[in-house]
Amino acid sequence: MHLAMDQFHYRNGQLYCEQVDLCELADQVGTPAYVYSAGTLRHHYRAFAEAFAALNPIICYSIKSCGNLNICQLLAELGAGMDVVSGGELYRAIEAGADPSKIVYAGVGKTDQEIEQGIKAGIGWFNIESEAEFENIAAIAARLGQPARGALRVNPDVADQRTHAKTATGHKHTKFGVNIDQTAIFFDTYGKNAHCELDAIHLHIGSPIYSPEPYVQAIAKVLTLIAQLRATGHVVRTLDIGGGFAADYETDASPSYAEYAKAIVPLLQNEDLRVILEPGRTISGNAGVLLSRVQYVKQTGEKRFVIVDGGMHNLIRPAMYDAFHFIWPVRVDARHVPPKRAQEIHLPDLVRADVVGPICETGDVLARDRALPPVDRGDLLCIFTAGAYGMVMASNYNSIPRPIEVLVDCNNTKIIRQRESYMDLVAHEKCTGSV
Ligand code: LLP
Repeated sequence: MHLAMDQFHYRNGQLYCEQVDLCELADQVGTPAYVYSAGTLRHHYRAFAEAFAALNPIICYSIKSCGNLNICQLLAELGAGMDVVSGGELYRAIEAGADPSKIVYAGVGKTDQEIEQGIKAGIGWFNIESEAEFENIAAIAARLGQPARGALRVNPDVADQRTHAKTATGHKHTKFGVNIDQTAIFFDTYGKNAHCELDAIHLHIGSPIYSPEPYVQAIAKVLTLIAQLRATGHVVRTLDIGGGFAADYETDASPSYAEYAKAIVPLLQNEDLRVILEPGRTISGNAGVLLSRVQYVKQTGEKRFVIVDGGMHNLIRPAMYDAFHFIWPVRVDARHVPPKRAQEIHLPDLVRADVVGPICETGDVLARDRALPPVDRGDLLCIFTAGAYGMVMASNYNSIPRPIEVLVDCNNTKIIRQRESYMDLVAHEKCTGSV
């Protein structure tokens, strides 16, 4: 996947998204702005599907990574199902035209209202996280007179050491799923329920998982489990192995789809199981960037700060997970065209600085001690691989309206979300009805 990690590239020292000059675009739409490449979204969806084609899987795009309706629509048109975790995401999936039978619904805290919404929509599977939740789904299905179907989320107690503690989900001390050693009793208790058919297993071991091995370990464990369940008379038709496939935050630092598939496909292709995959960031991560303008450059003692109009309110990943995002000016001299995206770039005359936002918190950092070409007030910076967990995690902290989102497709640009206004900030505070 590295050769075409995305369609953001420099041409004569000028960054383009597909055929669109990003300096011109920023002049037109203002900053900060999220810009997505439709070609990159399509490329990643198709390349991922192709790598796993031997399993003929249902690919459920994880909406939480980037939920803009237009992006969900584009993926639904390619045949993607959706992985949702709330009534709001379910609403988006249906609005986007996703086939309800290809929707999986995860999350430890589904409300009665959300469960009802899922059953009425006819979704494929609820990914069930506890005994109490199973009983609740079955009771709601009984009351509605409409059957539900469930996959039991199993916690395989497998972890990738490189996954950040805040996003690791596969070890046994997380709130997710049911411990693998409790699964047999779960099926014995609920496996023949009349209102909620339990015929599937779900896994999601964390995000991102930087190598195929943790999947291999987790799948091996659940295949043993499935064999045991079948031997005791239970029916298991489907295995959902979740998401977590990496994005290319740096050039050539993540496994390719072929590498993941080479390890995973042979384990599953001769099993009598329908396979579900839930990729999020690997589809959307490289498809989006955040454009942000330098407001000031300031030197205080030893430290140099490049202060931009984007920050933790737009992209919280560096502040929250110390995540690395490659940042580079949109317009550079020929000698400063980056040869690759990496934590350290070795080119002449780079200047080290912290790239920070306007938010009144010391933690509002996009990059620390980063070697960059010299920049001045008014220059435009691109924060790469911001398509996943970017806009969806953006906030109005410090009462700053959230950015505009633009979708580029070849040489067409479409605004897919308006920049918020000050009116938007207070709109929900103006209804003063009594309780
Ligand atoms: N399936 C389930 C059940 C999940 O919980 C997630 C992500 C995914 C699929 C998609 O994972 P992906 O393929 O996108 O890695 N905000 C964090 C990531 C949180 C992931 C939560 N669950 C970040 O910015 O890194």
